[in-house]
Parts: sequence; structure tokens; C-alpha cells
Amino acid sequence: MRQPKIVIVGAGLVGGSAALFCAVAMPGARVVILDIERVRAEAQALDLAHATAFWGHDRIQAGDDEDADGADIVVITAGVGVKPGQTRLDLIQTNAAILGGIVDRLAPRAPDAIYVIATNPCDALAAYACKRLGCARERVISTGTSLDTARLRALLSQRLGVVAPAIDAYVLGEHGDSALIHWSGASVAGMPLELFLARTGKDLGSASRALLLDSVHQAAKLIKEGKSATHYGIASAVGRICQAIVHDSHLVLSVGVVQPEVEGVPEVCVSLPMLVHAGGAHLLAYPQLDSAEAEALQRSARIVKDVTDSITA
Ligand code: 2OP
Repeated sequence: MRQPKIVIVGAGLVGGSAALFCAVAMPGARVVILDIERVRAEAQALDLAHATAFWGHDRIQAGDDEDADGADIVVITAGVGVKPGQTRLDLIQTNAAILGGIVDRLAPRAPDAIYVIATNPCDALAAYACKRLGCARERVISTGTSLDTARLRALLSQRLGVVAPAIDAYVLGEHGDSALIHWSGASVAGMPLELFLARTGKDLGSASRALLLDSVHQAAKLIKEGKSATHYGIASAVGRICQAIVHDSHLVLSVGVVQPEVEGVPEVCVSLPMLVHAGGAHLLAYPQLDSAEAEALQRSARIVKDVTDSITA
């Protein structure tokens, strides 16, 4: 891709961190930060310009809508965050209204852009954005469970004593409380998980697995109790997705695009192992699930579908 232009909408903690990851991961990229409060976008861009000067990047700027002209990627991080006692799904109406306005303003300026939706609930909002844009499904990507999968691999790395890159295990479904771990498809160091456990004598019984899933579900809440918001994790996921698009990597990530059907649920955006490339994201191959996993994915897809259909913006 020629010098790519990545527009990040939302100059808060997530948007600012995403801009940093994009700049460091793609030194040639032009990164434009937009925000309803221009002064905040300017401040983020100035701080980031100083930060990225160490890393050979010099193309970060604050901008207005017209600076989105011809963007290759539009990352949407703008919106309200979860408050104590809320779930991500509770944000749907407020953030759908915000997202709808952004998409309506930027679509004519960046008609060929790929959209990366990080604002929660990211799966339902990605489906809504795709409908509002009227574009091909693969061009609107929910960050989905890419972050949850990273969290799982970090936890499994500690538990099994194996570096995370040697662990091929995915979290599927909603980026939220109904996400599931695809244990039957997991492998470690090139062998099925069960064989790895048998050959190493390590234990990962059902109680441990349930605890790991709960740790993935509760990760954001735990972090927010200590520092009010999560942002490095989700921003790193955004940076990795954008890099895979810019480099046409065909990287496999658990992200979401609208699928024609998932476990009988039609037209729904949930995360599956997807190929991320210059055209967006395509399903690599529908995962082989055991009956419990298929049931959990169906439940997750139904939850996302119902929330998506509830949008009144
Ligand atoms: C997270 O899980 C913000 O949903 C995001 O950290």
C-alpha cells in the first residue's frame, strides 16, 4: 500500500494509544487523529509527535473531517465507556448514535476505507456501521475477541510455562460476557492441547478452564478497578489489525465481520479466526466446534444479534 493514511476517530486514551501503536508499527503511515474536542486531538497529536520522534515516525497530526479524505483505514474509538455495574452491551444506543454520525460524515470522504470498530459493543456496532455504510462485509472489522484471545494466550503462557506465540488458542463470539474459548481447536508447540498436556504431565482440567474463561471475561473490569480504563490492550489490537491491513499480511486474528450465518443465527457479527489483509477480513475456515462450543457460540451470536437489532439510532 502507498503511504497509508490511518484516521483515528476519538482522541481519548484508546484513540491516543492506538495512534501510538499504529505509528510505531508502521513508520511510513500517516496517522490523523480526529475528536469532537479539537483541543484534545491537538494535544494527543503533539504528545505523540514527541513520542514517535524516538522511533523514526513523523506523520501524526490532529485533523478535522476533511483530513479524512482518501483515508485507507478509519478506526473508530469514540464513544462512552462502561461504568460500574454496566456491561458493554448497555452502551449500544448511546454509542450507536455517536458512531452513526461519524460514519455519515466520513463515508463520503473515505469511500474505499476499511473501518475498524473498537468502540463498544464493538460487534453490534460493526454490524450497524456496515449496514449504514452499505459496503461489503469484509470492510468493516470489529476488534472483537482479538483482545480476549491475547488475554487468554497470556494467561495460558503463565499457566503452561510456554511463550504466548507458541499457543494457538482462540476466544470466539462476542467481545463480552458470552465469549467462549475454542478448547477443542487449541494447540501448543505444534501439537493438540490434550496431547501437550499428556506429554508434559501438566494439568488443565475443567475447573481451571472455567477459571481461565472467567479471567478473560473479567479482565477489563479488573484493570478498570485499578486504573479507571483499559487502553493499551485494545489499542495494541487496533495497531495489529491496521498493520495486517497495510502490510496485506493475511494474518489470522479473531476479529468480527458480519457473517451470513453463525450456528443458525443470520447476519451477525461475532469473532471467528479471520484472515486480515488489504481488503479487510475474510473467514479463513469455519472452526470445528464440539457440541458445547457450538451451543455457546450460538448463544453468543444470538446475544449480539438481538443487541444489533435493538439499535434505534
Ligand atoms: C476491553 O476489554 C475496552 O472492551 C475493552 O478492554
